[in-house]
Amino acid sequence: MTDKAAVPHHVAIVMDGNGRWASRRFLPRIAGHRQGVESLRRCVRLCVERGIAVLTVFAFSSENWNRPAEEVSGLMELLAKALAREVPQLHADGVRLHFAGERRGLSDKVRLGLDEAERATAGNQRLVLNVCFNYGGRWDIAQAAQALAARGEPITEEALDRAMALAHVPDPDLLIRTGGEQRISNFLLWQAAYSELYFSDRLWPDFDAAALDEALACFARRERRFGQTSAQVAGTLASPPAQAATPASQVSQV
Ligand code: FPP
Repeated sequence: MTDKAAVPHHVAIVMDGNGRWASRRFLPRIAGHRQGVESLRRCVRLCVERGIAVLTVFAFSSENWNRPAEEVSGLMELLAKALAREVPQLHADGVRLHFAGERRGLSDKVRLGLDEAERATAGNQRLVLNVCFNYGGRWDIAQAAQALAARGEPITEEALDRAMALAHVPDPDLLIRTGGEQRISNFLLWQAAYSELYFSDRLWPDFDAAALDEALACFARRERRFGQTSAQVAGTLASPPAQAATPASQVSQV
């Protein structure tokens, strides 16, 4: 079990390893993604139980369009089906859904599904679940800069922060990547500036309660310095003023 005080407010996850999970069982890759949805459902429940306020997951990257057409269409279909199946329960559990990413290029069916899921869960306050879909960190920075330029606003760090796709939540405290690879892969490039990184060898479908608790325990042992010295941190709260833990109920509206 983890110390309550050291539970991260916002956890972000690169859910990697679905394809390998399927290949090892001589199954098509899409079977791994289907199992990935099951793992995500379990993870959402665990985050609620652990008192985590925000969970952000990387479900489809700007670069995933380069995968075989069959896998891309399979992922689109999986998202549409998962929305239809999961949203009522997520809503009942107090989860507020938010989708981050470029919506142009998605089918009308998927776009409408995202809009409807966000609308239906907008009032929920137990957990914010950000699903990054057709998302890339570079896209996010560019779209924020374009929005500011179009409004004639100066491009400052604060203004960019407000224009980014996750402006409604504080930056992630802990960024987990499953599947054994140790890279960011264009995920939350701006927002992960001070996130603690944790890499797990578990494939995403196998990332269970014990694996999450191991990541949370590791996070609890980290010293977060935000540019300060260790001695300075010892005398203060290791959290940047602007990023101090914000209850989900207080995060701004999308
Ligand atoms: C990376 O594993 C995973 C993805 C590109 C998709 C992640 C999607 C899910 C977990 C399903 C939930 C998403 C929806 C639709 C809501 P990989 O395929 O790169 O695995 P590999 O590295 O083993 O090949």
